[in-house]
Amino acid sequence: MDQEQVKAMLGAYAAHYIDKYLTLESYVGIGTGSTANHFIDALAKVKHRFAGAVASSNASAERLRQHGISVLELTQVDELVVYVDGADEIDPQLAMIKGGGGALTREKIVASAAQQFICIADQSKWVKQLGSFPLPVEVIPMARSVVGRALAGLGGKPVYRQGFTTDNGNIILDVSDLKIASVTEMETAINQIPGVVSNGLFALQGADVLLMDKADSIQEITAHQA
Ligand code: A5P
Repeated sequence: MDQEQVKAMLGAYAAHYIDKYLTLESYVGIGTGSTANHFIDALAKVKHRFAGAVASSNASAERLRQHGISVLELTQVDELVVYVDGADEIDPQLAMIKGGGGALTREKIVASAAQQFICIADQSKWVKQLGSFPLPVEVIPMARSVVGRALAGLGGKPVYRQGFTTDNGNIILDVSDLKIASVTEMETAINQIPGVVSNGLFALQGADVLLMDKADSIQEITAHQA
């Protein structure tokens, strides 16, 4: 099975896995990226089982609409039964680095409204220690240099993501070489830099469940198993 087939298997499995949480009144939070796209495609087959979806990006919203799934704004919905998304890295505590696709801020917001965060990730995303993947940080454009210097002060090497604007009209700095001793402390420290909108560490609120491939099947890993 190649990686794309694994992602398709994860998307299909997740659509089946969340069935127990769905009612005709429930709303589903939707992530962004290639794995999340497979989930959206699989979700289309059970779209009669829930009321609608809240998307973490314009791209995911568009894909949902193409499948005839009702897309709502987060302001229209009190709570999401689940949030399903991929990750760029995930560790045994189910803390993640996300934002390779640049949607980290909306992902964090939509995930925060969900009862459960279900991560769908192929084995290439599994790491003992977060930090090999450059950490995406969304920044207000005027703060680019000042935030870059502050990130360098934390030991990182920030690189401006050329030609990319987030759905919120901001820029992304991708930060490599960060030594992340405490993931939650690093997430908090970066959030406190003036000009940072959010960063791609999802540790203060990580995933509740990880669905990951093993051989040609799927294993379910929960945070407390770590
Ligand atoms: C989008 O901003 C990201 O957080 C993605 O969820 C993450 O990069 C995983 O994407 P893939 O499923 O495409 O690897």
